[in-house]
Amino acid sequence: MRRLFLIFILNVLPCLGQEVTVTQDKKLVVIHAGNPIQLHCEWRGTTATYRVFWYQHKAGKGLELMAYSFSENDRTVELKFINSWNITRSAATKSSIKCTKPTSEESAVYFCGVSTHSHKKLS
Ligand SMILES: *[C@@H]1O[C@H](CO)[C@@H](O)[C@H](O)[C@H]1NC(C)=O
Repeated sequence: MRRLFLIFILNVLPCLGQEVTVTQDKKLVVIHAGNPIQLHCEWRGTTATYRVFWYQHKAGKGLELMAYSFSENDRTVELKFINSWNITRSAATKSSIKCTKPTSEESAVYFCGVSTHSHKKLS
């Protein structure tokens, strides 16, 4: 069987983070299909409570909201992604998304955005 490689690129959304510094541990991850993948995002800012949003971007499509967390104990995964992705919010300033059995559908660019607003849609 041919082994399929999946490519994950993590980016941050600069427009949402005016007074906040968002960092990521790895920018590019290449894995074999079926191996679990977790993308991490961490931030520092002036406000105690930030909302974190995760988006998926595939070639030729717009950004699609995958999951978000409005506080440490809040985690929401959008219906379209609920069977493949999970979100964690391990601290007030940390979040990650995880896919336990990625397929070629998951090769994409992923964006982590942090905001004090709750608007989910980007214009
Ligand atoms: C996400 O996490 C919940 C709670 O731990 C679990 O029940 C669910 O199966 C997970 N979903 C996926 C797609 O891994």
